[in-house]
Amino acid sequence: MAKSERACSYRVLVLVRNICYAIFMYSLTVGLFYVSPFTKSTHDTSKTPTKSEAAINAGLGSGTNSRLRPASLVSNINDAFLGPRPHVDSYANYTMLVERCRGSAEKLERMRKVGDCMTFLREKESEYLYIPQNPPSKQSADFPTPEEAIPASKENIGTCPGPIVHYHTYWTGPATWRVELFVKSYLYTQNLPCSRLHIWLDADTNPNAIEDMKKDKLFARFMPLVKRGDIILRAWKFPMRIPLPTLPEDQAMGKNSKKAIIPSATGETAIGDGVVRKDDGSEWLVLTPRQMTFLPVAVSDAVRFIVLHLYGGVYCDMDILMLKDMRPLLVTPEHSFAERWAAHLHPGDYNTAVMALSANSSLSSYLLRGGIRMGLNFHPRIIGRMAYKDGRSEEFVMFETALFDPIWTEFNWGREGACTIPCFKDYGQAFVGEKGAVLGGGEWDSYTGKQLETTPIHKRGQIPQNAEKIDPTKGDYNFEVDRYPPNNRTMENFFRGAFTYHIHNQWAKHPQPNSWIDVIERAQDGFFAGNRTNVYGESWHGPSIAPYDIWPEFV
Ligand SMILES: *[C@@H]1O[C@H](CO)[C@@H](O)[C@H](O)[C@H]1NC(C)=O
Ligand SMILES: *[C@@H]1O[C@H](CO)[C@@H](O)[C@H](O)[C@H]1NC(C)=O
Ligand SMILES: *[C@@H]1O[C@H](CO)[C@@H](O)[C@H](O)[C@H]1NC(C)=O
Ligand SMILES: *[C@@H]1O[C@H](CO)[C@@H](O)[C@H](O)[C@H]1NC(C)=O
Repeated sequence: MAKSERACSYRVLVLVRNICYAIFMYSLTVGLFYVSPFTKSTHDTSKTPTKSEAAINAGLGSGTNSRLRPASLVSNINDAFLGPRPHVDSYANYTMLVERCRGSAEKLERMRKVGDCMTFLREKESEYLYIPQNPPSKQSADFPTPEEAIPASKENIGTCPGPIVHYHTYWTGPATWRVELFVKSYLYTQNLPCSRLHIWLDADTNPNAIEDMKKDKLFARFMPLVKRGDIILRAWKFPMRIPLPTLPEDQAMGKNSKKAIIPSATGETAIGDGVVRKDDGSEWLVLTPRQMTFLPVAVSDAVRFIVLHLYGGVYCDMDILMLKDMRPLLVTPEHSFAERWAAHLHPGDYNTAVMALSANSSLSSYLLRGGIRMGLNFHPRIIGRMAYKDGRSEEFVMFETALFDPIWTEFNWGREGACTIPCFKDYGQAFVGEKGAVLGGGEWDSYTGKQLETTPIHKRGQIPQNAEKIDPTKGDYNFEVDRYPPNNRTMENFFRGAFTYHIHNQWAKHPQPNSWIDVIERAQDGFFAGNRTNVYGESWHGPSIAPYDIWPEFV
């Protein structure tokens, strides 16, 4: 008995000792954590607040100072930095864009010089944009002349002196701030009377996708634009049949000779390669039930090819930010293009995050048939290599990354010469606004222009020189203790020259205050609120659009 009692009290002692040990280790770890330089740098600012600052901030709660934060250090933000919008009839010289940013097809001598291409895009617009002899506005009697065209107004989208360009994107699920950023970047930069934005919503998995979007609380801000016709919500269902144009070269291939039409019992004849011809002579690409059961995982890879074949225009992934008017690229004849896959050498290595095709064209039909033949595989590099092998990649222009995704080459360690402005080493940088990252990081490494005039923080009324006098109750803002202080980032220096910036799906949870993305969001909101212009100096002519939400984690 005594023996087992002793054993029992021994076990209790061991247990108590272990608990004490655990508590000791726990407090040690937590203690270390709180004083570790890592946590310090993310929770504090470089300077320890003085007693009075600390008292003020403690007394008022952390949100007060951030609400007093000035929007920018730049005293005169130049929103209209791109000058007037390119004329509605402008074409882009594809040859020049390719030569200047890639070099020759064999040597690719300029492909890696992203900074040079950016400078060219920024400074030589007057060389690569031009108005052709027979401008688009004169190509149909139905088009008003540029002088007659009705400009956009609050109620009316206006009329276009030329063809309307269609922009497409694809989305699954409810709207988020990412959708908002995409749509606002479109509205902020494109020529709206001459453009339409089609948002394709996945109705294969959610048959109510459109109704749900119409009721979506975040998307509500865009509903007046849906009513006005700027934005078109469309249900995406993988089609079982896709119409094909009847093309001369199909006939030349022998198998599709028109003469062969024999009325059939079903009203159509299979003519091979998944194509049927109806008795009225029209040809259709038909998916087999088996193909329909095994729809690709990467549906969006296929959507862009089908939608562009049917409607033409340009497809942009939802993580694309439009930075300037893309119309000149899209009204140019033979405007089929995609982007290079980073700095890959192979002429078939396309990326299709931004892609344009002419509707019902020989090329769009060819790409579509190819992707379906390969088992609905529309991976851009597979489709691209197919097109190259078949000698069709010349029709499908490959632009370099500087035009649409200026840091991709940098990110893949492929860049030569100057870095972009700003110089990002990774995609996350666009979302960072923290003080340490603002001052370090080398994002201005390539910038050689004039310094923007900034408001000296110590001379400003709301930022007193003497910390002792800082009183947030009287509207004083304290720069020193702010984790996301204002800086000199403005849209003017955000990859200026590029048509788009690609977030590349490397989203942060939310953009930090005063990050580049936040600066863009506020420029957009100022435009929609009527107190700032867009990049072309234009005022907003449309229904009002609610600003971005303020994220609680930053207040
Ligand atoms: C396009 O640029 C090339 C040189 O890069 C030039 O030879 C050609 O004449 C230009 N085309 C037009 C229509 O300006
Ligand atoms: C493409 O062809 C189809 C069928 O031939 C037709 O319905 C459609 O309007 C055409 N689309 C364009 C943009 O020309
Ligand atoms: C912004 O500030 C940074 C650091 O203070 C500086 O290197 C850069 O040149 C400034 N940029 C502009 C456009 O003034
Ligand atoms: C412009 O409007 C926005 C949104 O209403 C507002 O937050 C901002 O303070 C305004 N800016 C100026 C300079 O008036």
